[in-house]
Amino acid sequence: MAQSPSEPSVDRLPAGWSGTEAPPLEIDVGCHKGLFLVEMARLSPERNFLGVEFQSERVQRTRKKIQTSGLANAAVVQAEGLEAMRGFPDHSADVIHVLFPDPWPKRRHSLRRLVRSVFLEASQRVLKPDGLLRLVTDDADYAAAMQVTAAGYPALRPFDFDQRAYPPTEFQKKFLADGRPVHRVILKKIT
Ligand SMILES: C[S@@+](CC[C@H](N)C(=O)[O-])C[C@H]1O[C@@H](n2cnc3c(N)ncnc32)[C@H](O)[C@@H]1O
Repeated sequence: MAQSPSEPSVDRLPAGWSGTEAPPLEIDVGCHKGLFLVEMARLSPERNFLGVEFQSERVQRTRKKIQTSGLANAAVVQAEGLEAMRGFPDHSADVIHVLFPDPWPKRRHSLRRLVRSVFLEASQRVLKPDGLLRLVTDDADYAAAMQVTAAGYPALRPFDFDQRAYPPTEFQKKFLADGRPVHRVILKKIT
């Protein structure tokens, strides 16, 4: 079995996962039980994948999936998403995935949304030049709000050419089965 990466924490990536010699890094914020994370790590063994999730049972489920799969290029940290992003080093991530974040559709709850100015600010700092921030949601109102907020960050430019094939996430599978539309806001960090 491959050697597992050192345990990540809110202010520390696993050993060897940052710095100029490190493999490309993808971060999945709100990774749930790790379906997407583990599948991505399987598909791209030359890259590292870090899940961030604040619910401990889901973190344990993700950790178990990683261990069962024998993957050394996947790890998960139990943390609040914004707090975790604020702890990651500058220019350390190639891709940040935020896939079907909780939509908080009631106006009075909108401050609970993960994707707000402060999150984009942290993402801009953590992304490498040319890195991608992938925001995917089934909630049209949240997608529109993401676009409006992103317009305040000219270094995060809308990017329409993400041709990579991604495996479905847990929630995406449900939404596809229900025939719900999916909205993608893909932003590229400009140098
Ligand atoms: C709607 S689910 C989507 C899960 C997964 N990305 C998918 O597409 O199947 C949102 C996930 O994000 C987690 N989550 C919500 N807010 C979070 C936050 N602020 N920090 C970290 N995780 C969060 C939830 O516990 C849940 O697992």
